[in-house]
Amino acid sequence: MNVAARSIEPEAKELRERIDALGPWFHNIDLGGVWTAPDHFLGDYPGSKFKRFAPHLPKDLSGKSVLDIGCNAGFYSMEMKRRGAERVVGIDSDDRYLEQARFAATTLGYDNIEFRNLSVYDVAALGERFDVVIFMGVLYHLRHPLLALDLIHEHVAGDLLIFQSMQRGSGSVLPLEEDYPFEETGIFHESGYPRLHFVEREYAHDWTNWWVPNRACAEAMLRASGFAIETRAEDEVYICRRAEMPYAAWGTGAVYPKKR
Ligand SMILES: C[S@@+](CC[C@H](N)C(=O)[O-])C[C@H]1O[C@@H](n2cnc3c(N)ncnc32)[C@H](O)[C@@H]1O
Repeated sequence: MNVAARSIEPEAKELRERIDALGPWFHNIDLGGVWTAPDHFLGDYPGSKFKRFAPHLPKDLSGKSVLDIGCNAGFYSMEMKRRGAERVVGIDSDDRYLEQARFAATTLGYDNIEFRNLSVYDVAALGERFDVVIFMGVLYHLRHPLLALDLIHEHVAGDLLIFQSMQRGSGSVLPLEEDYPFEETGIFHESGYPRLHFVEREYAHDWTNWWVPNRACAEAMLRASGFAIETRAEDEVYICRRAEMPYAAWGTGAVYPKKR
């Protein structure tokens, strides 16, 4: 064994032990030759997914602010820093993931990402809008998914929304009329009609899964919450721009947005 190898090995062993103590990890991150989740059930996740949609993101985020909602171990927060974002805030409702995020960011030298325990339902507390909001892999974990999108639109979305949801059911999208008569029932059986599947118990051994949209539904929910889809960057990933709410605005005192 040469001198260099002798000095690296104990460090790697220590890192491995620290990573394992913070586990289990959902994000597989390279912390300098030691990976956080090398046996991830989705492979190199989310790195392999990110590679597929990253070309659709702005390359240079200099001067921009980013909010990463449901940041988990901070993979996307750090990628945004890597693109030059000036201010990155990662929020998650699970302290175990936030501890992983702080450890990963510090280990990789991203000392100025702010990680906070905050639920998506409480984003108003941030008191600012962000140029880029990342809302990846969270929607289907929520009991109130449309409320979350409404709150993001109302309080924190400034321009871009990078959105992902697990989708199940048909991948087709049926073009719909503005309205249908009461007697029209067949439309609801069409596979491309927007459909949100309710998970009463568990899905994928995970009780935190609540509502899983099909593709048409994911896209319709984005539009209905005031996000214009610019690019479908990957099967389940959308780059959207904040637009006007299509209905009478949420937050004006109405409990439910009026459609007309
Ligand atoms: C499937 S992981 C997705 C992580 C990451 N955004 C990604 O796409 O790889 C879901 C994350 O959302 C977080 N989460 C669940 N409910 C949340 C809530 N109400 N507010 C904020 N984060 C939440 C979980 O703790 C978890 O870190």
